[in-house]
Amino acid sequence: MTRNILVTSALPNANGPIHLGHMYEHVQTDIWVRFQRMRGHQVVYVCADDTHGTATMIRAEEDGVAPEQLIEAVRRDHVSDFERFLVSHDNYYSTHSDENRHFSELIYERLQARGLIFTREVEQLYDPEKKLFLADRFVVGECPNCGAAGQYGDNCEVCGATYDATDLKNPKSVYSGATPELKASEHYFFDLPQYTDFLKKWTRSGAVQPEIANKLAEWLDGGLKAWDISRDAPYFGFVIPGTTDKYFYVWMDAPIGYMASFQKFCDQRNDMQFDDFWQPESEYEVHHFIGKDIINFHALFWPAVLDGAGFRTPTRIHTHGFITVNGTKMSKSRGTFILANDYLDYLDPEYLRYYYATKLNGTADDVDINLEDFVQRVNSDLVGKVINIASRCAGFLVKGFDGKLADTMHDGELWQKFTAQSEAIAEYYEADDTSKAVREITALADLANQYIAQHEPWNLNKDPERREDVQLVCSQAINMFRVLAIYLKPILPEMAAKTEAFLQVEPLTWADAQTPLLGHTIAKFKAMLARMEMKTVDKLVAASAEAPSEATTADGDAPAADDEFINIDDFAKVELKVAKIVAAELVDGADKLLQLTLDVGDHERQVFSGIREAYDPADLVGKLTVVVANLAPRKMRFGVSEGMVLAAGPGGKDIFLLSPDSGAEPGMDVR
Ligand code: 2FM
Ligand code: ZN
Repeated sequence: MTRNILVTSALPNANGPIHLGHMYEHVQTDIWVRFQRMRGHQVVYVCADDTHGTATMIRAEEDGVAPEQLIEAVRRDHVSDFERFLVSHDNYYSTHSDENRHFSELIYERLQARGLIFTREVEQLYDPEKKLFLADRFVVGECPNCGAAGQYGDNCEVCGATYDATDLKNPKSVYSGATPELKASEHYFFDLPQYTDFLKKWTRSGAVQPEIANKLAEWLDGGLKAWDISRDAPYFGFVIPGTTDKYFYVWMDAPIGYMASFQKFCDQRNDMQFDDFWQPESEYEVHHFIGKDIINFHALFWPAVLDGAGFRTPTRIHTHGFITVNGTKMSKSRGTFILANDYLDYLDPEYLRYYYATKLNGTADDVDINLEDFVQRVNSDLVGKVINIASRCAGFLVKGFDGKLADTMHDGELWQKFTAQSEAIAEYYEADDTSKAVREITALADLANQYIAQHEPWNLNKDPERREDVQLVCSQAINMFRVLAIYLKPILPEMAAKTEAFLQVEPLTWADAQTPLLGHTIAKFKAMLARMEMKTVDKLVAASAEAPSEATTADGDAPAADDEFINIDDFAKVELKVAKIVAAELVDGADKLLQLTLDVGDHERQVFSGIREAYDPADLVGKLTVVVANLAPRKMRFGVSEGMVLAAGPGGKDIFLLSPDSGAEPGMDVR
């Protein structure tokens, strides 16, 4: 029976680039989607960027663009990254769409009509300078439990305590550095506790993995609280109907974005009806793939909101864990916080798709991506075992038999072993346990290689009397290779496409594994995938360590803590000015220093600078440079230095200052 399946991956935030953590989820989803399509099911895979919230608003403001402009540019980058990783979304939309506004309003109005919405005053920290309410992650201060400095308003990264932002000592707004004030405003709530019994049943209905149901039971048994679904202006999002200054909280309209993206897809075709999928009790399936940090949103709020608004609930929530790289959290300083785009500059996406597949096992356990193991697995399994089967045998067929495969199967029993695994492997794919699927597939590849080693077609080929055996053995090998390419196709679609070209066949389906290719002509063999080199991975890591990148957190709102970088506010504190060098002198007893007198527009100041090797002092007079004007004066052995001169270059003789005809004037601000 053909299944109708709608599949989603969690919506990436529009405030940062796609990294290998996002890819872990999208690759997993894509493997499942491609598998279902190969089985002949009707699958629609949609996603979108999660665009709303304060973070988008602030970032757009900083960039001097409209939020709409910012999110569209980011969306284009995200689409390109996913396409290049062969992720086959049918539609990749935006939560800032007419469809999403429509469904958000509709759902809200239906919830309201059913008495599921109420309002209540909420006191919250407020940034009096920026004039906005501060979400927990936008307040930093000292942990009320252990006193650690620089902690966010929700939990302490040092001692693990969780608390309210109002409990932080010496709180500061991350936007302005101002001390936040408590301010009350009216908020809109979804009455989640009314759904307690419903959710206790739903979470045990098979819709979530058992360990996730256990985690949810802790929350359900502890008592649910009403969910605050509104945020005050200014906010980037949708205004709540009947109000002028209240917006839907980003997490309210984000999952509705799944529906909106699907609606947009339906509108582009005639054969797909939104209601068939979303009406209550629909037989059609809805599957969400998510990370374990957002199960409350997907397995508590979302089914309750859907039911409250008269829609069906999801068929299954597929929850995965996090990845670590080389045993630790992805880290910018180690170069293991790798952006999708950077990865693609160095490596083939199918390497990573394969390695992820060897790790994914249908549980929410975290997995480690060990970079040496990555190279080793790809080379030994894919290149050494799978592709090797075809590369060792194809040449004999093409040269000796015009590429024609034998008319019969040489070792029928062995062939049976290959076809018989089809359902077992399919079950692993269905259950998201691709690690077991891969294990079965590589075990079959071992059998195929043993068969080739046993029959030695290269030796048979030397004996004119055994020509027929050469064809039989090599044809058997090519058929075994073809079955492996079918079983691997959800993971390695490009390799499958190259295999289809090599075999000169139509796109392979799952069922094709049951019928051998006999008496058929194949093309010349070209390797489908090259060996990986550790040194290329090293280069990627080195490049990633240099590249500044932005991390995002699960709530779609805040930049992650990272003490390896200064933030934009730190940078904004640095006052850079154009300065004219009015005098330059050697410094007695200091062979690297020059004493410079700088004209910074309204006054002169003295700076010691280590650029003596590069310049004859006389040549500097009259030149322009850039000075850090608000650096605290430093007392040096030779006098006080009032600032720091910036120059670019490798050092030694080659240091570059601003050219006098650059149009710059002393005292000008530099940005
Ligand atoms: O955690 C995140 O990155 C969110 N942007 C995921 C949203 S998923 C869905 F609910 F929209
Ligand atoms: Zn603490």
